[in-house]
Amino acid sequence: MSAGPDRFVDTTLVVNGASVTRRIEARQHLIDFLREELGLTGSHVGCEHGVCGACTVRVDGRIVRGCLMLAAQAGGRRVDTIEGLSDSGELAQLQAAFHQHNALQCGFCTPGMLVAAHDIVVNHPDATREQIREHLSGNYCRCTGYQAIVDAVESVLAARRT
Ligand code: FES
Ligand code: FES
Repeated sequence: MSAGPDRFVDTTLVVNGASVTRRIEARQHLIDFLREELGLTGSHVGCEHGVCGACTVRVDGRIVRGCLMLAAQAGGRRVDTIEGLSDSGELAQLQAAFHQHNALQCGFCTPGMLVAAHDIVVNHPDATREQIREHLSGNYCRCTGYQAIVDAVESVLAARRT
């Protein structure tokens, strides 16, 4: 990352497996960069204050709030969005389970919720129901009351243990 003569920085990062180099406005948030510069609009923007989880993405394998991180801070790192996870078997299982359990209504929270749920499936396959609830507690949903979402994730974990 190198500073330009103005408020822009030249930044290279890996997004969904592909190297991307752009001159980025130094104060642009990662989620805005992903959506506006790269057209990856699967991740949503809700509160813009790190509260709702709609903007959840992964950076170097860890879930982060895309509205709290500057795009320039992602320089040299690996960023994965819901689009990048779409080919994974885990995500396909989660999507089917969300559908089966009616775990979405308006769908606004769903991409962020799925990225967080994907992290549970991959990194916490033995999570209890309470641990699932805790892990998803940073992702707000105004529609479902959460039970169906937890049911869906729990069903995927159970199916993968058999
Ligand atoms: S938009 Fe980032 S946490 Fe709400
Ligand atoms: S399904 Fe509408 S906010 Fe979650």
